[in-house]
Amino acid sequence: MWLPCGCTSKYVASSFARRILASHLHVSGRSRCNVAAFMPEAAGFEGVSGRAALRELSVSNSESFWAAVARHRLSWSIPFHTVQDCDLSRGKIKWFEGGKLNVSVNCLDRHVHTCPERVALIWERDERGSEMKYTYRELLEMTCRVGNLLRRHGVKRGDCVTIYMPTCPLAVASMLACARIGAAHNVVFAGFSADALAERIRDAQSSTVITVNQGVRGGKVIELKKTVDTAVESCPTVKQVFVAMRTDNPVTMTARDIEDVVCEPAVMNSEDVLFLLYTSGSTGKPKGLVHTQAGYLLYAALTHRYVFSYHDGDVFGCVADIGWITGHSYVVYGPLANGATTVLFESTPIYPDPGRYWDMVERLKINQFYGAPTAIRLLLKYGDQWVNKYDRSTLKTLGSVGEPINTEAWEWYHRVVGDGRCPVVDTWWQTETGGICIAPRPSDPDAEIVPGMAMRPFFGIKPVLIDTERCFGFLQGELLTSNNTSGALCMAQPWPGMARTIHNNHQRFIETYFQPYPGYFFTGDGAYRSEEGYYQITGRLDDVINVSGHRIGTAEIEDVVVRAQLSCPAVAESAVIGYTHSIKGQGVYAFVVLKKGIDVKEADLSRQLNGMVSEKIAKYASPDFIQFAQRLPKTRSGKIMRRVLRKVVESDLEGLGDLSTLDDPAAVQEIIQGRRCHV
Ligand code: PRX
Repeated sequence: MWLPCGCTSKYVASSFARRILASHLHVSGRSRCNVAAFMPEAAGFEGVSGRAALRELSVSNSESFWAAVARHRLSWSIPFHTVQDCDLSRGKIKWFEGGKLNVSVNCLDRHVHTCPERVALIWERDERGSEMKYTYRELLEMTCRVGNLLRRHGVKRGDCVTIYMPTCPLAVASMLACARIGAAHNVVFAGFSADALAERIRDAQSSTVITVNQGVRGGKVIELKKTVDTAVESCPTVKQVFVAMRTDNPVTMTARDIEDVVCEPAVMNSEDVLFLLYTSGSTGKPKGLVHTQAGYLLYAALTHRYVFSYHDGDVFGCVADIGWITGHSYVVYGPLANGATTVLFESTPIYPDPGRYWDMVERLKINQFYGAPTAIRLLLKYGDQWVNKYDRSTLKTLGSVGEPINTEAWEWYHRVVGDGRCPVVDTWWQTETGGICIAPRPSDPDAEIVPGMAMRPFFGIKPVLIDTERCFGFLQGELLTSNNTSGALCMAQPWPGMARTIHNNHQRFIETYFQPYPGYFFTGDGAYRSEEGYYQITGRLDDVINVSGHRIGTAEIEDVVVRAQLSCPAVAESAVIGYTHSIKGQGVYAFVVLKKGIDVKEADLSRQLNGMVSEKIAKYASPDFIQFAQRLPKTRSGKIMRRVLRKVVESDLEGLGDLSTLDDPAAVQEIIQGRRCHV
C-alpha cells in the first residue's frame, strides 16, 4: 500500500536521521527571513535564520540537510537508516541506505491520491495546435499498462529496457513503467543512428526495446522502427521489441495489448539502479552512466523547484528531448515528483515557423521556459517579430542549459523573450551530476544575476577550482582558494544526485572522475571564479566538444573517419577539433591524412565521410569542414598537437605558442595553407 508523504507515521524519517537533525540545528545567518516559508523542507532547522545560513548548512552539515529534505520530499515505504556513505577517493557513493521506495509512486500515485485530474503532461505534438493533455490519473493508468505488459513478457526487476522513442507520453510512461517494476531504463536519443543504438543496447545488455513505428519532427517522418530493426540485427541479447504507433502508417508489429490498469509497484532500495544514460567521454566509447533511485529523484525534484522558482500549479516547459539528461531530470522526473504540469515538446524551434516556441508559450500558458542557447541564437537571427506576435505574460523564469550562453543571446532572451522582467537562469550541470549544480538563484529568488554566468552553487554543492597549469603527467594541481581565478572545476563533496558508476566499468568511473584530482569529483570543465565568488564555465578541458548542445567526443568521430573504406581503407589518420560556431556553439572540423597512393577526388571522399559519421553516430556529429593534409603536426614522441590544430582552426596564428617540441615545424605551415575558411 502506498500513500503520500506524511499521511501516516510510517512515512517519517528514521530515528537515526532525526537524531542528526536534532543535534545540528544551530546555525546563525546575517539576514533574518522565514526560511521555512521559502523552503518548507527546512522547517525543522529552527536555528537557521536566513537563506545564506541555510545554504551554508547544506554544505557544512550536508547530512542533516539532505536527511530533512529526503524526509519531506519523498514518499518512503521504509525509511532510510543511513543518510550517506560516500568516499570520493574510491568513487563510492551511497545515499539513503536502508530506505525503500518506488520512483513511479513518487511521481504519480501520490499526486493521483490528492489531485487525480491535475494535468501531468501536455504533449506539444509536431503538428502545431494539436496538443494533447494527460492527467495524473491517465498517466498512472498508461504507466501501469506498460508495466504490466513488460512484466507479462518476462521483464524483471534488475533487467534493462532500451527506449528508442521521440518525446511523447508513451515514452514517459515507459520510463515510469520500468521504474514501477524495478527495471532500469536506457533511453537512447531518437536521433542516434542504428549503429549507435546497437552499441548502447549491447553495452546495456538489454533484451527488450520499446520504440514507435515512425517519429515525426519538423514535418518529416523518421523511420524509427526501421532503425531498430537494423540495430537489433547485431544485438543478440534482444528478445523482444514493442512498437507503439505514432503515425497511421502500417508497420510489422509485435503484439501490444490493452492491459490491466493496476500494476503493483516494486519496492526498491534507494541504491537500486533507476537508469543508464550513455554520454560521450574523451575516448571513442560512450559510457553508460548509472543513476539510482532515491538520491537522483530527490535531487531532480529539489533543483526543479528552487532553480526555476517553480510553484504548485505552474506549467513547466522544458523543450529538451527525453533522450538527454535534461529531458530525464526536467521533463520527466523533477517536474512529476513535484506534481507539476510538464510539457513534452516533439517539434523543432522553427517548425512550421520561428514563432513556434512563443506560440506554444501563449497557447499552453507556460510559466517556466527551459531551452538551449543554440536555439536562442538561431531564433534571434529571425528577428523580434516572431516573439512579439505572441503573449508571453505567463512567463516567470527563463532557463538556459547545455553550453555557454553568449552575451548577445542572453540579452535577447532576457530583453525580447522575457520582456526584461523574467530572470534568465544559466544552469550548469552534466549527465554525471544528475541535476543542476550551479545556477544563478538557487537559494534566493531576488539575488543579482550577471549575464552569461552560472553564478552560485546549489544547496549541498561545494565547487572548488584546481590549478591545471602546475601538473606533471597526471593532473595534480593545487587548490585555488582566492577569487578572480580560473581552474579545473571539481566538487569537494558528494550530493545525492551524482552518478554512481559507469555501467560495467567502475574502474573507468574512478579513473575519469576521481583520480585526476584525488579526493574530488572532476567535472571535465574549466571555470572562472569572479571577484565576488560567482562561477562562469569556460569550457571542456578534455577532448569533448559541444555541438548544438549535444556532447560528443572527438575520438568518436575520428574512430568513424579512420574506418572509411573506398575499395580499400583510405584514411591513415584523423584529428577532429571543435571550433566556435555562431549558431551551434561549436562546429566539427576534421583533419584527414590519406594513405599513400590513394587516388580519390577529395569532394567525393568528404561526402562519403560525412555520410558515414551520420550513419554511424548521428547527423549532428557530421564534420562541417574536412581538410585533407599530407601529415599532422606531432611531437617527437608522435603525439598529435591538438593545441596547434585548434589555434589554426580558430585562425589564432599569433597564439600558436611554443612549437619547439614539434617533430617537423613545416607540418604546421602546410596545415595553415590548406585551412578551410569558416570565419
Ligand atoms: O561542458 C559542460 C556543458 O555541457 C557538458 C555536459 O553535457 P551533458 O552531459 O550532455 O549535459 C548537458 C545538459 C546538462 C558540461 O560538462 N554545459 C552544460 N551546461 C552548461 C555547459 N557549459 C556552459 N554553461 C552551461 N550552463
